[in-house]
Amino acid sequence: MMHSGIVAPKGLWWVPAGKQEKLWVTVAFIWCMILFLSMPFWHMVGGQNTTGVRSRVDPAAFNSRTEKFVQAYKVGEENGLPVVAPPAGSHVYIRAGGFTWYPQVLKLKVGVSYTIHLSSIDVNHGFSVFPINLNFQVVPGYDYALTMTPNEAGEYRVMCNEFCGLAHHTMVAKVIVEP
Ligand code: CUA
Repeated sequence: MMHSGIVAPKGLWWVPAGKQEKLWVTVAFIWCMILFLSMPFWHMVGGQNTTGVRSRVDPAAFNSRTEKFVQAYKVGEENGLPVVAPPAGSHVYIRAGGFTWYPQVLKLKVGVSYTIHLSSIDVNHGFSVFPINLNFQVVPGYDYALTMTPNEAGEYRVMCNEFCGLAHHTMVAKVIVEP
């Protein structure tokens, strides 16, 4: 007769777990529990936590802040898009919406601290910086302020990593970090 789920196969088709196997399952389980129980500590210890402070913001107000920011610190243009170089310690506004980041080209300096404000004027977007692994959610109605100090010069790409619609893949920007 053929084996099926209804008729159990004959013979020794199942043997109890060996001693070593049991030992390893126990060790793995204990280790899982240790990591699980230490999760709250990662909130306080370690460099993986963001400096982000979220506060409510009216999309129209955020929009005008961004416009003012671009007007104040615009240093040039690249393919018709404003290049913005904010001074040290300044508040940087980046607006997401309509499948674009605004401003699209940002010039920062190594070792200088900035407070980056992220918000959206339509749907959720994702602020993703390549090639470093930085990911932040950009939510309409909320201003997410991140204090950061670039530590390496280079050209960084910003991509949207939250599917926001048909032109999601075109939502890119650039951050140039100068030495
Ligand atoms: Cu914005 Cu995807």
